[in-house]
Amino acid sequence: MLNLVLFGPPGAGKGTQSQKLIEKYGLIHLSTGDILRGEISQGTELGLEAKKLMDDGKLVPDAVVIGMISHKLDANKDAKGFIFDGFPRTVAQAEALDTLLESKNAPISGMIALEVNDDELEQRLLLRGKDSGRPDDANPEVIRKRIKEYNDKTAPVAGFYQGQNKYKSINGIGSVNEIFDAINAIISSY
Ligand code: AP5
Ligand code: MG
Repeated sequence: MLNLVLFGPPGAGKGTQSQKLIEKYGLIHLSTGDILRGEISQGTELGLEAKKLMDDGKLVPDAVVIGMISHKLDANKDAKGFIFDGFPRTVAQAEALDTLLESKNAPISGMIALEVNDDELEQRLLLRGKDSGRPDDANPEVIRKRIKEYNDKTAPVAGFYQGQNKYKSINGIGSVNEIFDAINAIISSY
């Protein structure tokens, strides 16, 4: 099984590269951000709770996203593998994911981190915010708060996978295809 954690700050290109990876490798794409936005658009109770935090650029509680991922893993028992996009975002989430995958005997193959500087992130997200309809893209202050949440709570997750010798980082600036090639080079080394 190929189980990939695609890592990086808001706007780094995780979703963009995931689309290409699912085509090439036939993996199941698990984006906690997309799942949460789905809950919001369906107007579920979980969605209503999450919306307040997301619109404010804050993380939703670990227990909520761990429960969502656990459910998706159970619902895709025959998958060739998974791309985790925007998850795990805290060390507690990373530990919980290891436990979930242990019971399936299908560990994380590796984490690939996309490195993009803050100015570029802000520009990309503001540009997308013009027509994405994502409230968290529309406001520079919220974008900066998302980046701060990333630096405070999510960046340490890289160390978690470094400790398992599973961490690789690449330059996330360049054409989408150049970045995809760099990701593929890492995948072929697994
Ligand atoms: P989430 O949906 O995960 O958003 P994010 O991490 O903030 O990042 P984005 O999805 O905005 O960026 P991306 O890296 O996918 O980049 P993309 O490919 O879209 O999370 C949203 C919220 O949900 C969080 O703030 C939190 O509240 C909550 N949440 C989600 N998961 C959670 C978790 N595990 N725990 C707790 N809370 C959670 O690209 C961005 C833009 O750049 C696009 O317009 C794209 O076209 C463009 N672009 C892509 N590649 C390039 C390139 N090479 N050159 C130029 N432009 C590019
Ligand atoms: Mg995304």
